[in-house]
Amino acid sequence: MKKIILLGPPGAGKGTQADKICQTLNIPKISTGDMLREAIASGNELGERVDQIMKSGALVSDEIILELILDRTTKNDCANGYLFDGVPRTLGQANLFDQNNILFTHVLELQVENEQIINRMSGRRWHPGSGRTYHITFNPPKDEGIDDETGEPLIQRDDDLPETVKKRLDVYHQETKPLVDFYTNKSSESDLVYATVNGDQSVDDVFQEIQNHI
Ligand code: AP5
Ligand code: MG
Repeated sequence: MKKIILLGPPGAGKGTQADKICQTLNIPKISTGDMLREAIASGNELGERVDQIMKSGALVSDEIILELILDRTTKNDCANGYLFDGVPRTLGQANLFDQNNILFTHVLELQVENEQIINRMSGRRWHPGSGRTYHITFNPPKDEGIDDETGEPLIQRDDDLPETVKKRLDVYHQETKPLVDFYTNKSSESDLVYATVNGDQSVDDVFQEIQNHI
């Protein structure tokens, strides 16, 4: 059974690769980013609490994330594994997951340089219903502005403005990068597989490299 974490900076291609991996392994994608955006779109109480935080590029609290994950991982479709897209994102979350017996078999770290990330974000388009992600140049939909599967319109994300992307990159280096050591250490004393993947290649080549590890 595969229980995978995709780790990497904003724009590294986590969501893009997550869709491909999940389709291949037939496991659900669990993206806290998508879940929070869904809450905002539905206008519920959680959505109201996190809207401004996400627009600013900061992280929501570890408690909110734990609650979302505990709820999501008890669903039937997680019985045969799952892929966590961009979560955990702090040492606090990683420790909370340990304490709550939310376990992993693989941590895949997608590595991409900062300059490349800014290019990717400005061209990103997104399908709110599914979380499917496109890029106007690097990974375009079949018809401009339209989701391939549903025919519904694609939108830009509120947090993809250049200043917000810079803030998200800073947050990644401060809060999330420490997870590299955390999970590297774990892999040296358990069966956990830790692998780095060069995210600065075509979408298909990145996926090829990932498949060698899973
Ligand atoms: P989240 O939605 O998870 O965003 P993120 O981690 O910042 O990452 P992105 O979704 O922006 O990038 P990605 O790596 O998925 O790249 P993508 O595949 O889209 O989180 C958003 C916010 O939610 C956070 O800031 C925080 O506020 C909150 N949050 C979420 N989880 C949290 C947590 N656990 N704790 C606290 N707060 C949390 O690709 C990007 C673009 O590049 C696309 O256009 C794509 O088509 C293109 N692309 C992808 N691969 C390639 C390639 N190989 N070559 C060229 N282009 C490519
Ligand atoms: Mg994503």
